[in-house]
Amino acid sequence: CGIIGFTGDIEAKSVLLDGLESLEYRGYDSAGIAFFDKEVIKTIKTTGKVSVLREKAAFDTISDSTCGIGHTRWATHGGVSDTNSHPHTYGNVTLIHNGIIENYHELELELAKTGRQPVSQTDTEIVAMLLDSLYEGNAFAAIKKAIAKLEGAYAFCILFKDEPGVIYSLRNGSPLVACHSKQGAIIASDMVALIKYSKDYFVLPEMHIARLTKENIVVTNLEDEIIVPKLLHVNWDMTAAQKGGYPHFMIKEIYEQPETIRSTILPRIKNKHIPDFTADGIPDTVFEGVNRIVIAACGTAMHAGLVGKVMLEKLLRIPVSVEIASEFRYQEPIIDKNTLVITISQSGETADTLAALNLAKEYQGTTLSIVNVKGSSIARSSDYVLYTHAGPEIAVASTKAYTAQLSCLYLLAFRFALVKRTITEEECVNYMEQLQAVVPAIEETLKFDKKIEEICKNLKEKEDLFFIGRGLDYALSCEGSIKLKEISYIHSEAYAAGELKHGTLSLVTDGIPVIALATQDSVFSKMISNIREVRARNAFVILVTNGEKEVDESIYDYHIALPELEDSLAPFTAAIVLQLLAYHTSVHRELNVDQPRNLAKSVTVE
Ligand code: G6P
Repeated sequence: CGIIGFTGDIEAKSVLLDGLESLEYRGYDSAGIAFFDKEVIKTIKTTGKVSVLREKAAFDTISDSTCGIGHTRWATHGGVSDTNSHPHTYGNVTLIHNGIIENYHELELELAKTGRQPVSQTDTEIVAMLLDSLYEGNAFAAIKKAIAKLEGAYAFCILFKDEPGVIYSLRNGSPLVACHSKQGAIIASDMVALIKYSKDYFVLPEMHIARLTKENIVVTNLEDEIIVPKLLHVNWDMTAAQKGGYPHFMIKEIYEQPETIRSTILPRIKNKHIPDFTADGIPDTVFEGVNRIVIAACGTAMHAGLVGKVMLEKLLRIPVSVEIASEFRYQEPIIDKNTLVITISQSGETADTLAALNLAKEYQGTTLSIVNVKGSSIARSSDYVLYTHAGPEIAVASTKAYTAQLSCLYLLAFRFALVKRTITEEECVNYMEQLQAVVPAIEETLKFDKKIEEICKNLKEKEDLFFIGRGLDYALSCEGSIKLKEISYIHSEAYAAGELKHGTLSLVTDGIPVIALATQDSVFSKMISNIREVRARNAFVILVTNGEKEVDESIYDYHIALPELEDSLAPFTAAIVLQLLAYHTSVHRELNVDQPRNLAKSVTVE
């Protein structure tokens, strides 16, 4: 869910609605705002998107409210309905919430004894009831008592009826960033909602209470001491969080990749093309003694890890395992002080990845995270951070964050191997030159856009589809498949090409599209044999190769010959093709590309 609170000198409703629009990627099944109309709190909420809320809010004539809160929902507890939408009010208290209150049922039973009954099915309303039951005219006291009773993850913005113009906020696990600007005080789940007002912001520390008034934001800890959080700065502006002439955020973000990869790699190049992490605060000593690497992440970030594993193992000759964070967190992992645990996350807030990181710390592993959002929970909890400089990624389907994550993993593999002396300095320079060659190669690959759009006309009516590849191409197939599923709703599977004959080939029938990735020379002829296997069953084959390759034309329907790169770098260009395939298929199917059904970009619940 996305939350926002504003109190200041300008009209609150439009600040909230604009802010919610930018936060909509965090959830979009319902939306709502509440604001002070003099002494009264008014609430407007609805199922559907922020645009529906905006229409509903247009009927409200209040235009002089300067303090309010807003929420865009991704349902967890309770179905999608107007009643379950936030804000929730009980007695003196109106609030919005991101997260899950695990003990809401116990609290509900306890509160029932005082005659309090909820009207919705949400855990959030129970918190409004709880706060109301604890409130005796002192908001701080009520919030502190409530914190002692709440279990789970949360970020709240709270209005108390008898304190017009004031917003209280607190968080545990779920993100909240805030700033004070000329217009007033503003707090939200993500910097994208603040950027219009300021480039400087702070992360609200966990278990601290922020009190926002138009004059300032005062942060106190639970012992009532005032804390001054460290200010952070972003180096992007409003235009980065807008579509900039593109029809969707996703296609804009696909096209941004030459730039985002450049920004991620260049600042880390020192003397003669050697990767260097001094400015990132990662000393070489981190790599010494490491005899095992565990990568934990979710979704697309986990798929970046699959590619990273191949590179790291190839260059370091130590075992690397890639773990799905939601599985890993409940295991008894084999981690000790010689294990480097790499967590990868665009948002830096994914609850499962954060839990995996904390588990790694319990087991004494050294933790390094690859994160896009500065100051996010995962970044702050890790021993070391390597930031991807991808800028804000708004489309739910991750694109530029993925290739920026790959860039960081490659840089890491090169530096690590150099320190470990499994590659020479000369080899390292050579690898780095090739890594930089990725940027112009991606620029070239983007020229296939029109051709891919054509190809996708053949995919839009299909119900099933396969991605096949070997080695790095298999790791990439996993990403191609999830991308397509996320935004086109077509069922697809990624298969290691050699494994087809052990089961899945039975599903390959007339006209089934197979995206065959054949970018790796070492297995090229094997791949071609696998393509023949599906072709013999009349599959519709889209072949992707690294450079022009001589291939019997009868085995494919379409061939995309990528600009030639060293094989180990082909995932960068091939990823662009897969992203465009998913994008155009979704557009041809007239779906909501940027906000696919049931998904949210940043999943801060388990
Ligand atoms: C969600 C998004 C995915 C993303 C995953 C991990 O499921 O829909 O696109 O890959 O979370 O997100 P993270 O922010 O940790 O990279």
